[in-house]
Amino acid sequence: MMGPTKDRDTLISHVGISMFFLVTLMSWVLVIDALGVLQDREYVIDDHQRQPQISGIHELQAQVSFQDRFKDGLCKLLVEPHGYPCEEYTVQTNDGFKLTIQHIPHGLAGSIGSKETPVFLQHGIMAGGEGWLLNGPNESFAFILADLGFDVWIGNSRGVEWSHGHESLNSSDPAFWDWTFDELAAYDLPAMMEFVYNKTSQKIMYVGHSMGTTILLAALIEQAAHLVDIVRGAVFVCPVALLTHVTSTFDQVAAHLFLDQVYNLFHISEFDLHSDVVNFLIDTICAVPNLDCTQLLPNVAGEGCCVDKDKVPLYLQYYPQPSSTKIIAHYAQILRKGPFRKYDFGRIQNVAHYNQSIPPEYAFSKFPSAVPLLMVSGTQDAIANTVDVAIVTQSLQQSVQGSVILPQYSHVDFILSRTANVDFWLNVTTWFESLISL
Ligand SMILES: *[C@@H]1O[C@H](CO)[C@@H](O)[C@H](O)[C@H]1NC(C)=O
Ligand SMILES: *[C@@H]1O[C@H](CO)[C@@H](O)[C@H](O)[C@H]1NC(C)=O
Ligand SMILES: *[C@@H]1O[C@H](CO)[C@@H](O)[C@H](O)[C@H]1NC(C)=O
Ligand SMILES: *[C@@H]1O[C@H](CO)[C@@H](O)[C@H](O)[C@H]1NC(C)=O
Ligand SMILES: *[C@@H]1O[C@H](CO)[C@@H](O)[C@H](O)[C@H]1NC(C)=O
Repeated sequence: MMGPTKDRDTLISHVGISMFFLVTLMSWVLVIDALGVLQDREYVIDDHQRQPQISGIHELQAQVSFQDRFKDGLCKLLVEPHGYPCEEYTVQTNDGFKLTIQHIPHGLAGSIGSKETPVFLQHGIMAGGEGWLLNGPNESFAFILADLGFDVWIGNSRGVEWSHGHESLNSSDPAFWDWTFDELAAYDLPAMMEFVYNKTSQKIMYVGHSMGTTILLAALIEQAAHLVDIVRGAVFVCPVALLTHVTSTFDQVAAHLFLDQVYNLFHISEFDLHSDVVNFLIDTICAVPNLDCTQLLPNVAGEGCCVDKDKVPLYLQYYPQPSSTKIIAHYAQILRKGPFRKYDFGRIQNVAHYNQSIPPEYAFSKFPSAVPLLMVSGTQDAIANTVDVAIVTQSLQQSVQGSVILPQYSHVDFILSRTANVDFWLNVTTWFESLISL
């Protein structure tokens, strides 16, 4: 009897440990997915009478490969069909990544003035530049800006399908995915912003959503390149620098289950929801009795208000974009351990990387007061939640010139809402006008 019992115990403990890690990873699939496509999932579930819970993913798999569909680039796919001019540029970072920038020089009415102010739009995690375009003219911010006479530039950080190249690394190489927002702040943002500045010779208005706010904050605090000299003002939509007051128990549990340990164990460097390994995890988890994936989804990022059901098939063609497992682990560290700081490699490795056993903090007090800020957030956002946003706003109070807080809005509504223009983009462009007229 000894043998079989021991085997069974071993098996149970292995299954238990595996499930522990799988649940953790699954949690973060959901957390991160929620940043980009929570609404899609919900609606897809409705459309399919609550069939396979994560059906959106399987639909995606059935389509031709991501890369093939995307080879035309954003200008051809989402801008030119509406009759707007669009140019695409490739910018190389100091660590070899090739990033794509889209440029919409003016709107349908043609060029309005000779000195149009450049606006740079930076997406969040598991998303790319498409978020500023998907709802088309009158609804998506890139078109709204172009029609108002702004000179629009769209950034795409490393890893997303629009910026999938490197001078020497292949994206099938794990080293291609060895980065977090520390690198996006130190390399990607300076390269893209300097490029735009070189082209326009004008200070730039910056608009970031979610991770797009994290990286400008980090870059300005670290005084990366000459960003402080070229940013005219910045709009932080769903600012994410602290995650201390994330209220969703689900997000809490996920992060406290040490996702970065899972990362160290499994070394899945590309966090791609289209990949077999992540899909295998989703299937495994959702097959567990009593684990209702449909109920978990709204708990992760908050219930939203304003995403159009009919557009979900379009969104699913583009979302979610690949990212790195390391950046997800980094956000989990911040949720779990507090301050806004660099990636924690562990005490010993930290000394090698930073000369200190604890990662250096991005101190809000070092944010340059020369850069005025407008904060935009939503009370239904479970990630950039109101308490953390209030703390960040307070910490940056020397620079913050205004706050727009929308009831009803959750994390994804800010990008995909049909009524975003009247709800808050108008506030943003009004603020730009006030800065320009100074
Ligand atoms: C955008 O709004 C303008 C003015 O109301 C209208 O003429 C145009 O058809 C709209 N475009 C789209 C794509 O809805
Ligand atoms: C990357 O590696 C894969 C597999 O080794 C290969 O098929 C592909 O052509 C490579 N891509 C580039 C851009 O070199
Ligand atoms: C911007 O212009 C400067 C000076 O010509 C040049 O050194 C730098 O490489 C340019 N940066 C980018 C990103 O194009
Ligand atoms: C670490 O400290 C040593 C000695 O003080 C110094 O030479 C080195 O430049 C430091 N490295 C970093 C990354 O700060
Ligand atoms: C935003 O704009 C609306 C009008 O569109 C205005 O009523 C509201 O006061 C503005 N909010 C802020 C915070 O500026």
